[in-house]
Amino acid sequence: MAGKKFICGNWKMYRTAAEAGALAREVRAAAEPYADKVEVAIVPPFTALWAAGVELKGSRIGLGAQDVFWETQGAFTGEVSAPMLVDAGCRYVLAGHSERRQFFGDTDEAVRKKTRAALAAGLHPIVCVGETLPERESGRTLEVVGRQVRAALAGLDAGEIARLTVAYEPVWAIGTGKTATSEQAQEVHAALRAILRELAPAAADAIRILYGGSVKPDNAAELLSQPDVDGALVGGASLKALDFTGIIQGATR
Ligand code: PGA
Repeated sequence: MAGKKFICGNWKMYRTAAEAGALAREVRAAAEPYADKVEVAIVPPFTALWAAGVELKGSRIGLGAQDVFWETQGAFTGEVSAPMLVDAGCRYVLAGHSERRQFFGDTDEAVRKKTRAALAAGLHPIVCVGETLPERESGRTLEVVGRQVRAALAGLDAGEIARLTVAYEPVWAIGTGKTATSEQAQEVHAALRAILRELAPAAADAIRILYGGSVKPDNAAELLSQPDVDGALVGGASLKALDFTGIIQGATR
């Protein structure tokens, strides 16, 4: 099992630059005392990265972005490249969040290219996978997440795989208040770990596999107590410094 747990807050399309600066400052003050034990990052919208980054400067709280395009520059209106994210102070980037897959057409192939581009720029990608409710109900969960993770990591060498994080986020649990049980999460995390062992045997045990989907202060410790749950990707609850800190505390138990 991986060492330090990793708690990452995905702010989605919330917070202006000024609001993000204020929230980053609060998170810094609240989370810094746990930084020896838990790795913490926040992932604001693009327009707020700079403002949040200013507040995090010199701290051990990391900054990440929610998406990235795979070309480094060019005529790609509306897109942001991995080197630009590095320039904005990012250490992490999400790839293949289910909302990107669902609403913006991100395919497995797009997620693979984004993951590769992020690694090439020195970022740590957080590769998101997860099944929909119909997929779970038809018994296809492990097949779906297996396909997604294999596609995202295709062509990467073991050294590259060692630099990424995987996030298991059942689509039916995101923003719905429904959380996977810790047994359901552990089952999928163990299956993902087995695939990582196949692809990068030496690194697999140290790669963090995060759970995401309605993580809250009151369910975090139980989920994080599972042997293959190495952290959490937190949406809604990451927008309140107090709740986010409660989840970080859950990771220290
Ligand atoms: P949620 O979102 O915590 O609001 O369910 C999780 C995510 O989408 O990363």
